[in-house]
Order: sequence, then structure tokens, then C-alpha cells
Amino acid sequence: MGSILALLILCASAQYATSLTASTTSTTATSALFSPPLSSNFERIDDVIMGGVSKSSLGDKGDYMNFQGILREQDGGFCGFRTGPFARPIDGSSFDGIILRARFTSDSDSDKRTFKLTIRDDETRGEFVFQQMFDVPPPSGEWHDIKIPFDSLKAVRGPIINPNAKPFNSSNILQVGVVISKFKISSTMETLEDFRPGFFSMDFKEIGMYGGVRSLGGDVPAPSFNDSTQKKSPLLKVLGPLFKLVFSETSRRRRAAYLQLKKRSGKGWFHIAGLGFKARASNYGLLNAMITFGGRMSKDGIKFALGWTLKVAIFYPFRTLFRLKKRLRARGNEGEERKPA
Ligand SMILES: *[C@@H]1O[C@H](CO)[C@@H](O)[C@H](O)[C@H]1NC(C)=O
Ligand SMILES: *[C@@H]1O[C@H](CO)[C@@H](O)[C@H](O)[C@H]1NC(C)=O
Repeated sequence: MGSILALLILCASAQYATSLTASTTSTTATSALFSPPLSSNFERIDDVIMGGVSKSSLGDKGDYMNFQGILREQDGGFCGFRTGPFARPIDGSSFDGIILRARFTSDSDSDKRTFKLTIRDDETRGEFVFQQMFDVPPPSGEWHDIKIPFDSLKAVRGPIINPNAKPFNSSNILQVGVVISKFKISSTMETLEDFRPGFFSMDFKEIGMYGGVRSLGGDVPAPSFNDSTQKKSPLLKVLGPLFKLVFSETSRRRRAAYLQLKKRSGKGWFHIAGLGFKARASNYGLLNAMITFGGRMSKDGIKFALGWTLKVAIFYPFRTLFRLKKRLRARGNEGEERKPA
């Protein structure tokens, strides 16, 4: 990026040298926000937030970041990552849009997924964000510069366009993210007809801003983040791990697997549990099967009881309180994202 920038500066200054002084020289340029992006700058937003079972991970590979996962359509169908809120807004008003230097690597069906840039121009962490879809060419080993103009961004709630929203304010950028999804951006929750679920993998070498005319005087500073652990309330710090235990991804996955089996075989829980028991018994012996299943059932029993106690005694009352409080201060935004993306 540095050399491209230098080249652009050279071209521009050669062209304008006669008419402008050095300190006010303007040029088109790119400015890197994340180069390379680091996994520690992002959090994942898989469809687990709405009860789905897709799963992804971010990995640092030296001069690029890898994003891979497994997309599952059941109860969702998206994986994504996003930065935390920037400590201070980034002023992108003298640029044309966001540029992603990226490549798709897992298979040649990149056109059977929807890719979206997600960006935010306010500090709320509500459901309303701005998005635009982009294409990623099939793998060739090459990096691609993918440009998403600010003025193409659409205000959305989940994958649904919000026609009444104000246009995107590029002088107040507070969060950037990427989603790979079966949902298109539409007004009717449209999905990609030939969506390909399963494994995907893609790489990101840079996330930045491109184009426009800007003064060479000041570079855009890289985004910084506030320490998010400070913002967590003490209650959430205590309850967080407890909720994780009870509503864990593992037990949700086990349940999803069970539902799939049930659908495929048309048989009930006892039948399926019986099959599992028999399989374990023939592989590991009857005693082992009894201990495993006894343990799992009592654990599930404890979790079930604990889960309902937590829900009734803590979660529902607090959620009600929280929603009431939100509604009182609501300016159109409500709660964290619980919609497809
Ligand atoms: C980050 O911290 C600064 C200083 O405490 C504060 O002004 C700013 O609003 C914070 N940003 C976010 C997104 O919380
Ligand atoms: C856009 O954001 C800037 C910086 O926060 C603010 O000064 C300006 O009023 C905003 N513009 C609109 C149209 O909201």
C-alpha cells in the first residue's frame, strides 16, 4: 500500500506542481485503517446470536488475516466479524468509500454466498447499521481490491432495508465489519437461491478508505478502541460465565444434531438416545455407556433446572427492566442485534 500511495503522490505532485504549493497538494489516495487486519481488533457475529449454529474463526497469518467457518442454514445462515466501537469516530468524509484487499480461497463458488460490508455511523450498538453487498472473485491466488462507495450504503435492520433512515454520515465512522450470509439486502428478507452452506475461507490483507480528494497534510489515524471490559456491569461479569454454562454453544449444537436426526429418521428422543446408547455400549462396553449417558442426563437435568431458575429469577425480570429503560430512551434503536445479517 505504501508504494502505491507514494506513486500516487508522485503522479499527483508532478501534475499539480505548477499550480499548487506542496503543503496544499491534493490527490486521490487510499488510507489504511487496518493493514493487516488483526483478529484482536474484531469480534465475531455468527448467527448464534439469533439461535443459529454457524461457526467461524479469525486467524492472524502474518501479513494478512484469515476468516473461515461453517455456514449452516438452520435458524440462521451467516458468519461475520466486526470491530468494537472506535474510541473516536474516523472522519472519512474526504474519501469515496471503503476498500477491502481480500481473496476467497475455499472453493470456486464465491458467487453462491452474499458478502456484505457493515458500517456504523453512531455510537449505539442497536440493530440499525449500514450495509452494502460486494462480489468476491473466485480463487486465483491474487488479492482483489474491492471498493464499496459510501454513497451506495443502505440503512438496514438485519437484512431488511430501512427506507426512512438518514443517509450514511461518512464523517462519523464508528465500526466496520464484514458478513458472509445467505441473506441478500432487500426489503423482503430475500435469500440467495443457490446459497452454498458449509465450509468457507477467505483472507483480508487490508481494510481502508479509498478515493476522493484529500489534503496530504494529515493522515487518518488508525482506529483505537476503549477497553471494553470496563463497560461490562459487575452483574454481567458474574452472570456471564453462568449463562455461558447453561446456554452453551455445545449443548445448542447437540440439540441441533438431535433435531436433524429426528427429522431424518422420524423417530423420537428415546429411539435416538437408545441408538446412541447402543453404539457407545458396543464400542466401549455397557458400563461406560451407562456412566456416559447417566452423566449427560444428570448434567442436562441440572442445566435444565438451573436454566429455568436463571431465566425466571434473573433473565426475564432484567430483560424486562432493560427493555423498559431502552424504550424510555429509545430513539429508534432497540437492543443488540438479534436479526439475520
Ligand atoms: C471512549 O472513551 C472516550 C474517553 O473516555 C469517550 O469520550 C468515548 O465516548 C469512548 N468511546 C466509546 C465508543 O465508548
Ligand atoms: C455527521 O457527523 C459529524 C461528526 O460527528 C457531525 O458533525 C455532523 O453533524 C453529522 N452530519 C449529519 C448530517 O448528521
